[in-house]
Amino acid sequence: MHIDPLEKKWVYIALATIGFFLGVIALTAWIGGIYPPSNVETINPARLHLSEEFAENKLGLKIQPDGSIKVVMVAGRYGFYPRRIVVPADTPITFRFASLDVLHGVHLPMTNLNTMIVPGYIAQVTTKFPIPGDYPLLCNEYCGLGHDFMWSKVTVVDKQTWKHEFGGRP
Ligand code: CUA
Repeated sequence: MHIDPLEKKWVYIALATIGFFLGVIALTAWIGGIYPPSNVETINPARLHLSEEFAENKLGLKIQPDGSIKVVMVAGRYGFYPRRIVVPADTPITFRFASLDVLHGVHLPMTNLNTMIVPGYIAQVTTKFPIPGDYPLLCNEYCGLGHDFMWSKVTVVDKQTWKHEFGGRP
């Protein structure tokens, strides 16, 4: 089979371009610590308030017996509950989200916390926040008329301050 040399050259250029962009995607994902959420765990959205973990009085930050930090939040039209959490900087934190109604997404700008919250499933992400400050926790999946107003607040404080002021009461 004869392929015109010029055509061959453009095939290589096209393949090289694709390879380059795949490389850019892989590299930025690696540098930014971006990975697909892989936690598959089901929960009945209609019975969230009766569950061990997602009942209203159980939400928020918990220090586990092994010292690790877990944050349990419910996403519902239109907010993430509790509305404000305070977490230590530079510490691995495992977030667990469940939706009580429709599909939501959760995104903490400037960090790699970004996942869908599919009704019926628990979304779990473990991450660290290096830079203290106030961050909005935004919904990034259209979920209804109030979608634009669906956000809560995460305050990241440095480890020592957190230990002194918040460490005692999870
Ligand atoms: Cu929840 Cu958009």
